[in-house]
Amino acid sequence: MSGSDSISASYNALACPLEKGETLHLLLDEHDLLDSGWRPMRRGETLLLPLRLGVVPEQFEVLENLSFEVIFSQEEFEKAEPSNNPHAALQRGIERWLHVNFASEELGALISQRPHKWERLGDLIVLPEQAFASSEWAKLLNQCSETQLESLWRCVTEALSGGRLARQHSIAKDTFRSSQTELLLGDNGWVEFLDHGVRFGFDATQVMFSSGNNTERRRIGNISMNGEVVVDAYAGVGYYALHMAHRSQAMLVHAFEMNPHSIEGLQWAIEANGLKDKIIVHQGDNQQLLPLIYGQADRCHLGLLPSTERVWGHAIQCLKPSGGWLHIHMNVQEKDIENWKEETLEELRNLAEAHERNWSIESQHLEKVKWFSPRVRHVVLDVYCQSRDA
Ligand SMILES: C[S@@+](CC[C@H](N)C(=O)[O-])C[C@H]1O[C@@H](n2cnc3c(N)ncnc32)[C@H](O)[C@@H]1O
Repeated sequence: MSGSDSISASYNALACPLEKGETLHLLLDEHDLLDSGWRPMRRGETLLLPLRLGVVPEQFEVLENLSFEVIFSQEEFEKAEPSNNPHAALQRGIERWLHVNFASEELGALISQRPHKWERLGDLIVLPEQAFASSEWAKLLNQCSETQLESLWRCVTEALSGGRLARQHSIAKDTFRSSQTELLLGDNGWVEFLDHGVRFGFDATQVMFSSGNNTERRRIGNISMNGEVVVDAYAGVGYYALHMAHRSQAMLVHAFEMNPHSIEGLQWAIEANGLKDKIIVHQGDNQQLLPLIYGQADRCHLGLLPSTERVWGHAIQCLKPSGGWLHIHMNVQEKDIENWKEETLEELRNLAEAHERNWSIESQHLEKVKWFSPRVRHVVLDVYCQSRDA
């Protein structure tokens, strides 16, 4: 019987004492053994839980050390209310696709190796690099026809309520931080979406967008920059420049960017957000272009990973002689954060002195944006430079 289309179906089930039902439910769910498409059922003092199709016997090893008895049986279950949990929808979709196309194969491992994370950029769902890349999936996808592949990508896209599908490849180590997104379903990578009230648009197959920096974009846009002149040295598609011009109310943002694909997105968003009078785009290498703004800025935003150290001297000189703010992004080992902060302030003081700025340079805040890798944090140091001359 095709379980997913009927109102009730006969399924492998596990029975346990009612009072142990929650424990067993959690355990099965955690190990991806439960079929959330069917409703668990009470019979007297026993709870019956529906098991996923295609589970292999080894997966039941997790039941070995339970303190209560569980019994395997075959039961008729009723269909659960369709869950709007995308993880459950994706599991159901992939299960259905596998059963239609590869009924005779061992499917349990494939189902548990389905994607567990993704990003959404407008209607484009972006899967991580490891999605469908396990050796089991690679082997299976190799045998698939074009039509089967297309139906898999369509089923994933629909389960996640998207319109197109892409898979991220690692961000290129080139200076542009180019995106290497592979389009799996759809005929172009242009995306448009709203981020904290600001419109963004760009070709996701050409440029990166780090959704992980969401909290930082919100934080920067919440800082009042009313009347300020701001430099954004690595503007990209406007991740921070747009928020500073629109939400922080900066008077003028000088956005420096060298990648023509990013600039295309930035120009589109400047127009879409009505910011033509507030953002000036400087196309080219900021090493050459930042001197244009020496002595004019109240604030410099330096948002490149792993480090922006090479423009710290320029940033000091871009600030007005009276001083101003620096926001310095950096990848730092968690254990070294305090040292890094003190060394950075010291280096900035030396640079300021070398450029004849009589400034006090301090920081009251270091933002931990996200984990970049297991022991490395992406941090932003907010630095205030104040002239000692009256
Ligand atoms: C990491 S992206 C910006 C990402 C964004 N800050 C975020 O967190 O999502 C960095 C941008 O800096 C640009 N870039 C790198 N080196 C540059 C340089 N020397 N001059 C101008 N732009 C540069 C790259 O093209 C890229 O668009």
